[in-house]
Amino acid sequence: MARKTVLFMVLLICCIITASEALAALKLPDPKKEGGDGIFSLLERRASGSRENFPKGKISQDELSSVLWAASGLNRGGKGWTVPMAGGKPPYVRIYAVTPDGAFIYDWKAHSLSEVTNKNVLGEITEDDFVKEAPCVLVFVSDTGDLGNMSSLNAGNALAYVASGAMTQNAYLAADALGIGGRYMLTMNTDAVKRALKLSNTDSPLCIMPLGKY
Ligand SMILES: Cc1cc2nc3c(=O)[nH]c(=O)nc-3n(C[C@H](O)[C@H](O)[C@H](O)COP(=O)(O)O)c2cc1C
Repeated sequence: MARKTVLFMVLLICCIITASEALAALKLPDPKKEGGDGIFSLLERRASGSRENFPKGKISQDELSSVLWAASGLNRGGKGWTVPMAGGKPPYVRIYAVTPDGAFIYDWKAHSLSEVTNKNVLGEITEDDFVKEAPCVLVFVSDTGDLGNMSSLNAGNALAYVASGAMTQNAYLAADALGIGGRYMLTMNTDAVKRALKLSNTDSPLCIMPLGKY
């Protein structure tokens, strides 16, 4: 009996540790909101990182903070977002940052990351070697549930793709300003992404964007 109780306690402690690890949140440093090259220079330079020679340099937390903020962070003192959203709704496309240390979901409200898994899932979510080797891959996921009655127009997915286009373009430009290369990609192992990021049935992975420092 005493043995069973000890076993139960050990299992309980393991569950508590696992749950608290899964909920671990990392407050990101403040994003860069001024300086850098001007928008027209960035537009003139904008390009996708080469598939053959994709940059592999590590991305710092400061840099990731700025790219995520550019992609869907709060601006105007918290009154809006860096990207336009249909009906002024809060972002209905979520961003996950997948790194060799695990996968993390971006919370634009708190400008923080929460761990989804501490496993390296890069090898599962793509067949492209340069993506597997990237120090960070952003995954853009729509949840049409977040669109409320707008998703009943059957345009939910279209709205999500429009949003992800604006988000990734902002990410391209912010990344370039920081000396980071990125590439918009539709190609991914969708089912593996769903499993690895623990997505629900209403979540659709839209695109990925590997990032690497030059
Ligand atoms: C809708 C869309 C889907 C794309 N999918 C992929 C992809 O699956 N794999 C890839 O390597 N690049 C992908 N790309 C990147 C394009 O190949 C790239 O933008 C194009 O070659 C032009 O290069 P640039 O971005 O440097 O101007 C995609 C781009 C767009 C707009």
